[in-house]
Amino acid sequence: MAFDFGIVILTLVIGALIAVLVWSLTKKSSESSTKGKSEKAAGGKKDGKKSSGAQSKPAKKKPAVAISKDSKSTFTHSWLLTSLKGHTGAITDMDFSANGKHLATCAEDRSLMLWKLNFGRLDSTVMELNMKDIRTVRAHVQYDSATLIRWSPDSKALLTVRALGNNIEIYKVLKKPEAGGLPSVQVSHAFEKTREADLLAIDVASTGRFIMTCTPKNELDVLDLKGNLLASVITNQMETYSAKISPDGRFVATSGFTPEVKVWEVVFSRSGEFEKLNRAFELSGHTSGIYSFDYSPDSGRMVTISKDGTWRLYNTNIDYRQGQLATLVVSGKWKSEGNEPARVALAPDGRVVAIGSNCSLYIYSTANAELLSHIPDIHAAPITRLRFDSTSRFILTTGDKYVRVFHNVPGFKIAVADLEVKLRKATGQALKERCQIQLKEAKALVELFNARN
Ligand SMILES: *[C@@H]1O[C@H](CO)[C@@H](O)[C@H](O)[C@H]1NC(C)=O
Repeated sequence: MAFDFGIVILTLVIGALIAVLVWSLTKKSSESSTKGKSEKAAGGKKDGKKSSGAQSKPAKKKPAVAISKDSKSTFTHSWLLTSLKGHTGAITDMDFSANGKHLATCAEDRSLMLWKLNFGRLDSTVMELNMKDIRTVRAHVQYDSATLIRWSPDSKALLTVRALGNNIEIYKVLKKPEAGGLPSVQVSHAFEKTREADLLAIDVASTGRFIMTCTPKNELDVLDLKGNLLASVITNQMETYSAKISPDGRFVATSGFTPEVKVWEVVFSRSGEFEKLNRAFELSGHTSGIYSFDYSPDSGRMVTISKDGTWRLYNTNIDYRQGQLATLVVSGKWKSEGNEPARVALAPDGRVVAIGSNCSLYIYSTANAELLSHIPDIHAAPITRLRFDSTSRFILTTGDKYVRVFHNVPGFKIAVADLEVKLRKATGQALKERCQIQLKEAKALVELFNARN
């Protein structure tokens, strides 16, 4: 009897301990998820300091309230292909797999999601997609949320940054045997935290040779795939706002408070050993800080967006070792809405530039810098991520718990004009035929949207 009584007491005590432990962990991670949003999304404004008093400031809850406003879930636009719905907290980052098949997102709801959009198979008559036609997979981030996400170049893993841990965590993406099935996503392992300041960017070279991370405190690191530090450099930009690896995997670049983008070459020996980070070239000409930048798929063009009220497209198809400098191709004005950091993306076909400013999307021509369209009030909060799919047919934006996928209608219109010129100039039957097919497709898309408006 006495023995049994002892067991009961012990069970109660252990139960209470577990309850306290679970409660404190849950509390910690929900704090981290709001923290991630306010700091990472702020880009240009915050100094990246850990918010020390993470306890119970009422202000902390603000973003969550704004985002749960359901008025925004009814957003419609004639160019909207779909809104990706599934996350219950603000989306912090998104990335396409190299083959373009799967979009990965992470959010403050402590989950990662894969979305199978079948972009490749959309024919020109698909105007809208329902969520029921989109397959999704979800994975949970244990006791934390992810602020950044990148596919590995072989599409077999996802690299994330944990909000609270501020370290890289890797998830395995395993193919399911049945045809058409989505892969499964399982946590694999984590790297040690490398920096105190929150990581603002992570990227993986398409060559699979290195990983890049960067903090607002100007700490740019190059790591090997096991997480070992290969090299570090201080960007000297007062505060760094964004950092990316070039699509060819050769360069890393950063932008920040100072008015230039700095570019380094990540140099490897012939046998594939890392050698050094070599200062390569700069994108200069802006007169104020640069919020963000983007590359063309061949890395031969780069686009920037600055607080000075302009965006600039540069030719970076240069041999910097021979002293060649990046040159300006075109620059245009953009409309700043308040002090929110703006985002810029270059269409892979190079025809248009997309800018996310506050809650609006702006599309500009790269031929003459003309404003082609403005779509306001897309998200319940300012746009934090913006990108094209690899075919240039779609523009994806996020800023709240949805991803909006728009048809790039201005891009189709320019494509028609371009292809008509190309067709007239085309010699050779094969080229002519290719132009004709592309022109027919672009025209069909333009007509579909003209009929709609
Ligand atoms: C940002 O967009 C929201 C929603 O459209 C709007 O209410 C707000 O005034 C805008 N902010 C600025 C500074 O223009």
